[in-house]
Amino acid sequence: MEFIKVNPQHEKHIALIELNRPKELNALNRQLMLEIRDALRELDEDDNVRVVILTGGQKVFAAGADIKQMADATAIDMLNIDQFSTWDQIKKTRKPIIAAVSGFALGGGCELAMTCDMIMASETARFGQPEIKIGTMPGAGGTQRLTRAVGKAMAMELVLTGKFISAQEALDAGLINRIVPVELLLDETLKLAREIAKQSPVAIKLAKESVSNAFNSTLDEGLIFERKNFYLTFASQDQKEGMAAFVEKRTPEFKGK
Ligand code: CAA
Repeated sequence: MEFIKVNPQHEKHIALIELNRPKELNALNRQLMLEIRDALRELDEDDNVRVVILTGGQKVFAAGADIKQMADATAIDMLNIDQFSTWDQIKKTRKPIIAAVSGFALGGGCELAMTCDMIMASETARFGQPEIKIGTMPGAGGTQRLTRAVGKAMAMELVLTGKFISAQEALDAGLINRIVPVELLLDETLKLAREIAKQSPVAIKLAKESVSNAFNSTLDEGLIFERKNFYLTFASQDQKEGMAAFVEKRTPEFKGK
C-alpha cells in the first residue's frame, strides 16, 4: 500500500485504515481509492475484524478527489476510467465503518466520510462540497448522501456555493455523530468502535444492512426487509446467547455464529 496504512488488528476486533498522502492533504487519487477498496475487501472477509475505522489523521481527512489527476480528462476518459466504481466497495462492506474526521473533509473527502456508517469529528473538522468552485459538481454521492443527511436547504446551499461548514454546524445538521477534541479523536472513535465490536457480529451485519436499506426503499418495503433480518437473527447462536445471558444476569459472549 502506497497511500494508505492498514492495521487489521489496531486492537481486538477493530481495524484501522489511515489515509497517508499528507503533502497533498490526502487528495484521493485513483491508486489511493483502489487501495481502500482492496483493504476493505480483505477486512470484510477477516473474521477477526468487527469494525473498521477510516481516518486521515489529526491534520486533514481528505481535500477531495485529486484535481490534478482529472484536470485534463475528457468526459469519455472519465467514463472509461469509471473511478467511482472503486468507491462502491465502501458501500458494499458489511462491517460497520466509522470515519474519524479532523480538518478538511471536502468534495470526495466529504463524500468518503458520508459513505461510511458514522462520522466522528474533531473540533477542527470542516465539511464541504466545493466542486462548484472548480467548474464541476459532486460525483461520488455528494448531492445524494448530503441531501439525505442534512436536508434539501443546507445541501443545496453547500453544493451550489461550495462553502464549508464547521464541525458544530455539521453536528447541528445531523451529518456527524459527535465532536471531540483533536487529540482525543482516535480514542473517542475507538470507544464507539468497542461498543459495536462487543455486540453480536451477525446482528450488527443484519442491522447495518437494514438501516442502510432505509435509504433505498419505501417505508413498507423497508419494514418487511427489517422484519426478515430480525427473524434471521434467531438462526444465530449469538441471539440464543444474548437472550440467555440477559435471563441469567451475565455478560453475553458473542461468537459471530
Ligand atoms: N487535489 C489535488 N491536490 C490537492 C487537492 C486536491 N483536491 N487539495 C489540495 N491539494 C494539494 C495542493 O495542490 C497543494 O499541493 P502543492 O503544495 O504541490 O501546491 C497541497 O495539496 C496543499 O494544498 P494548499 O496549498 O491548497 O493548502 P491550503 O491550506 O492553502 O488550502 C484547501 C487547503 C482549502 C483544502 C485547498 O487545498 C483546496 O481548496 N483544495 C481543493 C478542495 C476541492 O476543491 N475539493 C474537491 C475536489 S473535486 C472532487 O472531490 C470531485 C468528487 O466529487 C469526487
